[in-house]
Amino acid sequence: MRLAVLASGFGSNLQAIIDAVEGGKITGRVEVVISDQKDAYALERARRHGIGAVYINPRHFSGREAFDREVLTLLQGKNIDLVVLAGYMRLLSPVLVGGFKGKIMNIHPSLLPSFPGLEGVQQALDYGVKVSGCTVHFVDEGLDTGPVILQEAVPVYGQDTAASLQERIHEVEHRLYPRAIQLFIEGKLEIEGRRCFQNET
Ligand code: GRF
Repeated sequence: MRLAVLASGFGSNLQAIIDAVEGGKITGRVEVVISDQKDAYALERARRHGIGAVYINPRHFSGREAFDREVLTLLQGKNIDLVVLAGYMRLLSPVLVGGFKGKIMNIHPSLLPSFPGLEGVQQALDYGVKVSGCTVHFVDEGLDTGPVILQEAVPVYGQDTAASLQERIHEVEHRLYPRAIQLFIEGKLEIEGRRCFQNET
């Protein structure tokens, strides 16, 4: 299986995926890492592991659709089987979602449908919940709305700041995301409407 990771920032989830590939826990290959941010550390991580690192400058395109068409062309050119969003800060247009229907995953730092969109961790703290967590889901055209693949809860403590809660959530993400990717690779994920089932065939 040929994976592409789209990332805008630090890329700790990308690193967890690369480590899982190198350790045999993901039986696929990361063919390319694409970023909309020139200085994204995720690109540096890719280069260090001999993975193609591509920066696409959004300013060179008339809008979201045109940008996504460029991304789509690149993904298709590399025969990508699964697109993995890892801290990718752009909402995908129908061009990209339609081009890889049921083949794009995202990870979000809250228990969806609570606290979608930006700053999910801060939103959870501000709301005062005692339990938050993270969600791996398929991507549709909405904002963090696609079928849920895996979720895991993380406790919120009285003394938590966004940074401390984020750190605890990240640890779980780094375990959960590779697992979800491997389930996809093994053909074990089945989508029926909003629900995603794990089959054992
Ligand atoms: C993660 O917390 C993920 O849930 C969210 O963005 C963050 C990316 O972190 N979508 P990193 O760049 O993988 O370190």
